[in-house]
Amino acid sequence: MATETKSGLQPVSLRMRRLRTSPAMRALVRENRLAPEDFIYPLFVTAGRNEKSEVSSMPGVFRFSIDRLAPEVSEVASLGIPAVLLFGLPAEKDDVGSGGYDPDGVVQQAVRAIKQAVPSLLVVTDVCLCEYTSHGHCGVIANGTVDNDRTLDLLARTAVSHAAAGADIVAPSAMMDGQVAAIRAGLDAQGFTSTAILAYGAKYASAFYGPFREAADSAPGFGDRRSYQMDPPNAREALRELELDAAEGADMLMVKPGLPYLDILARARDRFEHPLAVYNVSGEYSMIKAAVRLGWLDERRTILEALTAFKRAGADMIITYFAKDAARWLREG
Ligand code: PBG
Repeated sequence: MATETKSGLQPVSLRMRRLRTSPAMRALVRENRLAPEDFIYPLFVTAGRNEKSEVSSMPGVFRFSIDRLAPEVSEVASLGIPAVLLFGLPAEKDDVGSGGYDPDGVVQQAVRAIKQAVPSLLVVTDVCLCEYTSHGHCGVIANGTVDNDRTLDLLARTAVSHAAAGADIVAPSAMMDGQVAAIRAGLDAQGFTSTAILAYGAKYASAFYGPFREAADSAPGFGDRRSYQMDPPNAREALRELELDAAEGADMLMVKPGLPYLDILARARDRFEHPLAVYNVSGEYSMIKAAVRLGWLDERRTILEALTAFKRAGADMIITYFAKDAARWLREG
C-alpha cells in the first residue's frame, strides 16, 4: 500500500532518498566518476634558465624554464595524469610570431626535454601565434586585421615543428578558418601521419582568459579577439564550428571555456562521437582559488564538484590547472 504525505495528497511509494542512504549506496548508483586519467595539465614554459615563477593571478601555477621542467613532469606522471599541454613564452617576439615555428623555439625544446625525462607522458602543444607575436594577436596582421589565410601556413609550420620535436597531439587554438585542414595537410606532407589533432573547435571570446594572458604574456596589444573567437551568446554556431573541424580531420574536439559553457559541451556530446575535451580555463581556476583564499568556499569539494560537472556534461578529457591537486585527492579517496 502506498504511504501518503501528511497532507494526504501525494503518494510517496517512490522514494528517491532510498538510494542516498549511505556512502556505499551512493557509490553504487553514481553515474559519473572522475579519475586522474581524465586530466590534461597545462604547463607554461619560459625561455631563460633556472626559473620557476608563480603567476600572480593563478596561485599554484608557475612558469618553468626548460631546465626546471623534469621534476614537474615526473610529478604529473606519477599522479597518473596522462598528458600535459604546453604553452611557450619566447625570449623575443616579432610581427609574424617566428618564435612559434622556430625548430629550436621554447616549446620545441620543452617537448624534447619532456620526452627525454618521461617518455610515457603524452605531450600536447598549443598551436597559436599569440604568445609569439609582438602585437599579441593569434595570427599575422594585414590591413589592420588578422589575416586568416596568411596565418594558416604559419600555424601548419608551427604544428610540424612541434611534431618534429616529438609532440603526440597538436591543439590549434587560433580560431582561423581552415586551420585544422591546413595543419593536417602540413603534418601529412612531412610524414607526421600519426600526430593527432585536438581541435579547439568551439572557442569563445571570453573574459575568463584574463589570468592566462598574464601567465603567457599574450594579451592583444590593440583591439580584441572578437573577429576570430566566437561570440558568447551563440550556441548553434558552436556546432557548426565543431562540424567543420571534424570534417577537416580533427581527431578530438574541444569546447572552451568550460563551466560557463556546459550547455555547449552537452550539445557537442549529443552530436559527436569524437573524443571530447573541455578546457577549464584560467579564470575559472582563479575564481575558485580567490574564493578559497577568502574562506568563502571549501577548496577540495568545490574543485571536485566543478570537475565532475564536466564529466556529467559529457567530456572525456578535462584540461585543468587543478589536475595535480584533483589527482592527489582522488588517489587519497
Ligand atoms: C591561445 C590560447 C588562450 C588560451 C588557450 N590558448 C588565450 C586566448 O585565446 O586569449 C586560454 C586558456 C586559459 O585561459 O586558461 N590563443
